[in-house]
Parts: sequence; C-alpha cells; structure tokens
Amino acid sequence: MAKAFIVGHPIKHSRSPLIHGHWLKAYGLDGSYERIDVEPVNFGEFLRSFRSRGFAGGNVTLPHKEAAFAGVDRRTAQAQRVGAVNTLWAEDGLIWGDNTDVTGFMAHLDASLGTGWEQDVDTALVLGAGGAARAVVAGLQDRPIKRIFVANRTGSKAEDLARDLRPGSPVGLETSAWEALGRVIPHAQLIVNTTSLGMAGQPSLTLDLSRSPRRAAVADIVYVPLKTPLLAAAAAQDLRTVDGLGMLLHQAVPGFRRWFGVTPEVTPGLRALILADIEGTR
Ligand code: ATR
Repeated sequence: MAKAFIVGHPIKHSRSPLIHGHWLKAYGLDGSYERIDVEPVNFGEFLRSFRSRGFAGGNVTLPHKEAAFAGVDRRTAQAQRVGAVNTLWAEDGLIWGDNTDVTGFMAHLDASLGTGWEQDVDTALVLGAGGAARAVVAGLQDRPIKRIFVANRTGSKAEDLARDLRPGSPVGLETSAWEALGRVIPHAQLIVNTTSLGMAGQPSLTLDLSRSPRRAAVADIVYVPLKTPLLAAAAAQDLRTVDGLGMLLHQAVPGFRRWFGVTPEVTPGLRALILADIEGTR
C-alpha cells in the first residue's frame, strides 16, 4: 500500500486529505494520505525519516515550506525559482522537492480562461509578495506576456521578489507602489490577488476596476469565500473572473501522480466536494 502525508503545524484545517482521499477512492487505489503535525524544531528529523516510516512522499504546508526547500537533496526548477517546497518524494535514494503551486495556478488559469489566453495579455499585475506571489509570478514568466507588475503593501518585499525572479526570464518584471495601483490597473489585462485581503475575517481588497481594459481577467487565490469582494467587483464590471479553488485542486495533481502512479483529474465532483466542505454543508 502506498502511503503519503501532509505535514504542517497546525495541520487540522488542511483540505488536502479530502482531495487525495477522494482520488484514492475514485481510482480504487490501495493507499492512504494522512495529516502529520510536526513542530518546526522536529521538521528536519521528519524529512530524513519519512522513507523509513514507509511513506512514498507527501505535501508540506505552513510553516515548513522553506525548511523543506533547504532540506531536500534535489529541487525541481519551479521549486528553485520560488524558494519553497510543497511536495516531496523519494527517487534513486534522494529526496526531491517540487513547488506545485506554480503548475497548479497555471493549470487553473488555462482551464478557466481557455488555452491561448496570453494572446490578450501583454501586462499582468500581481498583488502581494509572499510565497504564493512568487509561485504565480514564476508561472506567468513561462508564458509569452510582455511584462508583469508586482505591488505589495510592504514595497521592499516586492523589490526582493523582482530581484530574485528577474534573472533568466524574458518577461519584464517591474514593481509598482501599492498607492500607485490606479496607474497600473488600466494597463493590466490580467490581475491576480495573492494577498490575504478578501479572505473571511480579513478586510476586503478594494480596487477601482472601472478603467480596466475590456475583457480583462481577475484571479483571486483566496477561496474562502469563493466569491471574494474583488471577484464580485470584477464581475460587476463585466470582467472575466478566476476563483481560488482551482489552484488548490490543481496543485494536488503532481504529488498524487508521484506517490500513487495515477494522474488524477480535477472534476466537477471533486470541486463540489471541497466547496461543500468550505460552506460547511458536507
Ligand atoms: P503567502 O505565502 O500565502 O503568500 P504571506 O507571505 O503571509 O502569505 O503573504 C501575505 C501577503 O498578503 C503579503 O503580500 C502581505 O503584504 P505585506 O508583505 O505588506 O505584509 C499581504 N497582506 C496581508 N494583509 C494585508 C493588508 N491588510 N493590506 C495589504 N496587503 C496585505
């Protein structure tokens, strides 16, 4: 039986076990996916010991993504660019680390906007400068768009992100002051919120989208609530919207394939299951 885990601290609220459990059942696989709570001081030992405990690998969540990055033997190009690891597996005696938020976000964007959406986008605007922003920028840099603006409340973090991710990419990566967003929005055919603004219990993200280009797309990685105030404002301007749930579902695909040997599908049934859990109706 193949075994996988999600490790974090705390870990109670993770929805990953629901996603992987759904797929294990749907594909009739003899496997398990369990939550493991590990305190930061014990993470290094956990990383070295998961193989001897019979695990094929697992996911890593807060606060261990940077420690996982530092502790693995090999990293994928995506993990290297983002500076954080969220997926682990063993290969040829080595521990590998990937960052599947990159492909997760991009797969959801492609599924929502339709492949070829880049043709309408020469400028993208990414709000935030944390780990999620790094994953989104790294994903967008692989696409034929002209420039990406990053804006963050703490401007120095946006500068750090741009400095780290600029090398090796033909896409222009610039920063914008948070206060100057109004000047960038009219140029951005794609806006992505990676901040925690708009999440249940947090203040809303209020952007003036009245001067957005026609048919611009607005994506939010917040998925509780699913329809954030930002997405509602975008819909009110007749802009295209991309919700945050798809990224959560799509980022789980590469790990499942590595541990259990089947490429799982993100289906309406899976989406409905997670949505019911978010809404407390499951
Ligand atoms: P993650 O790794 O998930 O991206 P994070 O590193 O905690 O999470 O980043 C959260 C993001 O939300 C940051 O960009 C943060 O801005 P700061 O770097 O200035 O802290 C942003 N954020 C959180 N609360 C905010 C607020 N009230 N206004 C504007 N941005 C906010």
